[in-house]
Amino acid sequence: MATCAASQTGWSYKGKQKWRMVLLPIFLYFVHLIPVNPIKEDGLNPKSRKRIMPDLLTEPPAIDPVYEARVYCNIPTIAERSMEGYAPHYFKLVSVQVLIRHGDRYPLYAIPKTKRPDIDCTLLPNRKPSHPQLEAFIKHMSKGSTAQMDGTLSSLPRYPSHSLCEMGELTQTGVVQHLRNGQLLREIYINKHKLLLNDWTAKQLYLETTGKSRTLQSALALLYTFLPDFDWKKINMRHQWSTIFCSGSCDCPMRNHYLEEEQRRQYSLRVKNNDLERIYVDMAKIVGIPTRQLRASNPIDSLLCYFCHNVSFPCTKTGCIGMEHFKVIKRHQLEDERERQEKKLYFLYALLATHPLLNQTVNRLQRIAEGKKEEIFVLHSAHDVTLSPVLSALGITEARFPRFAARLVFELWQDGKRPKEHFIRILYNGADVTFQTSFCKDYYKRSSKPMCPLEKFVSFVKRDMFLVFNSTSYYDACRRRPL
Ligand SMILES: *[C@@H]1O[C@H](CO)[C@@H](O)[C@H](O)[C@H]1NC(C)=O
Ligand SMILES: *[C@@H]1O[C@H](CO)[C@@H](O)[C@H](O)[C@H]1NC(C)=O
Ligand SMILES: *[C@@H]1O[C@H](CO)[C@@H](O)[C@H](O)[C@H]1NC(C)=O
Repeated sequence: MATCAASQTGWSYKGKQKWRMVLLPIFLYFVHLIPVNPIKEDGLNPKSRKRIMPDLLTEPPAIDPVYEARVYCNIPTIAERSMEGYAPHYFKLVSVQVLIRHGDRYPLYAIPKTKRPDIDCTLLPNRKPSHPQLEAFIKHMSKGSTAQMDGTLSSLPRYPSHSLCEMGELTQTGVVQHLRNGQLLREIYINKHKLLLNDWTAKQLYLETTGKSRTLQSALALLYTFLPDFDWKKINMRHQWSTIFCSGSCDCPMRNHYLEEEQRRQYSLRVKNNDLERIYVDMAKIVGIPTRQLRASNPIDSLLCYFCHNVSFPCTKTGCIGMEHFKVIKRHQLEDERERQEKKLYFLYALLATHPLLNQTVNRLQRIAEGKKEEIFVLHSAHDVTLSPVLSALGITEARFPRFAARLVFELWQDGKRPKEHFIRILYNGADVTFQTSFCKDYYKRSSKPMCPLEKFVSFVKRDMFLVFNSTSYYDACRRRPL
């Protein structure tokens, strides 16, 4: 389990064995937080959102752990509304960069001494949830041997196939979630805005995934409906070993410092919560293991799987784990997320963690604004621990914790009336969050433009994101001790 967690975070705690033992269970927990104060995913922009009354029938006013869990599951149902691709008619779409979380997966950890949830990871087009292109997707994936894939990626299966899911395996639900994402993006960006013409070339795409089968398979599912029956020879999938996509710039001591501080905060909130302790003791009794061991097995990850797949929670001879256990743990996650927003340690961690990825994004957008025609569609296939700090760093504090198959999209637009001027829009699960970002909030108040000037994003990433560290560069901020 230790190796698994280390690969999740992309770095290790060398020489800190003691901390590792204390922190590991907390960190695992940390991976599945869900925030309060959600953005309404109704596709309305922030301005019109303020004017409407909350819909009391669909949006519960207080924290509702069951409602939040359902949002997290993201079970494919009706077509969703989205605000991607909205712009005045004289604006031209020139690039789209997408960051996704993998789709629904089997738990990463089992609850000790209980039967694992019985979930089938084979793909069956006539089993729900399904997608009209699921069958064609399976066929196309079996022909994929000519794709160029970095090292270890080529040995991973291109779609899930075990009749009892393996730990962490993408499920059919997860595949369908990304087939839907790809289809939606195709309708908007290709059909409507003609982003990639039929003769698109390998160089126009930039594809990168972490080395897990669930992220690779999620990327391929999205790509399949985005570019139906794509030519495998044009696919070049890069491998990213770091879950925060820090590539060659991962050395950042202060990032680790802030993460450890954040984990300490999380630990002390947890031990203060008597309800939670009581529930853990009770569950441990049912399962027949020490409370400490139960807590360390990160039961919420498994329980969410039972919940999302409508499988009843496990029982033993002593009793059953029930909805009340689930609700208390889930509610604690939501409270933890609220405190996380208030205390800012995670924000400081997030700024340092995401700079390398944001820097790359900005570099690409700048090159395209200068007229380069390469890498105009970018897909990064990643994890909750990738998306969550990006949202935090950008200042999108109202956003919910990344659900399964969450998508964050950066659109680059050229003003047709002033072709030298470029603007960005940022969308999270289809909602326009451009003006929730720290660098475009004020611009929105002063301007009637429906987008954010590219330069605002550039100066944020290149310089302004380090100001809270009393610093002007990544290298310096990574090494500067707080006063
Ligand atoms: C969930 O399972 C219960 C019984 O196990 C069933 O009555 C219910 O219809 C199922 N719900 C969904 C959404 O499948
Ligand atoms: C950010 O991008 C610039 C290229 O514009 C590059 O020289 C620099 O090394 C990058 N910094 C980090 C920390 O990735
Ligand atoms: C930046 O400097 C101010 C005062 O000079 C200090 O209060 C603050 O803690 C510093 N910030 C960091 C992150 O070190």
